[in-house]
Amino acid sequence: MSKITRRDFLKIVNKVLAATGLAAVFAPVVAYFYPPSLEETPSEPVLVVAEVELPIGKAQTVSFGRYPALVIHTPEGLRAYSAVCTHFACICKWDEEQAKIVCPCHDGFFDPSDGSVIAGPPPTGLKVLQTEIKDGDIYVSAGGEA
Ligand code: FES
Repeated sequence: MSKITRRDFLKIVNKVLAATGLAAVFAPVVAYFYPPSLEETPSEPVLVVAEVELPIGKAQTVSFGRYPALVIHTPEGLRAYSAVCTHFACICKWDEEQAKIVCPCHDGFFDPSDGSVIAGPPPTGLKVLQTEIKDGDIYVSAGGEA
């Protein structure tokens, strides 16, 4: 059995470190160009909150598969959207004072009544989700119009 020399051992360590460094640099670049699917949504309705706990003007964010959903009780009724911004996938929030959905990353604003873009860089409106009320509880599910 041949012994590995100190020089050979250090060459191997050097190559492993170089490969690790390259992976650390290029993995985020690859992830940027091949983002995970945003379509991973639950097949069953997801409980949001009891209907009495979401008065008009309030909103609730819930986990909806891999990404959050935003359920808003507007004066026109319940509305639900994927909270993932269509610009660079930041998570949108409900701004109760402005009565708008806001993306904090680049000041994107969405209309709570239909999820359309009001202002800012998002190219399209938020993905629409469906709501239903069962036994006094609000549920959100996929299937709305985009
Ligand atoms: S990521 Fe939402 S406005 Fe840019």
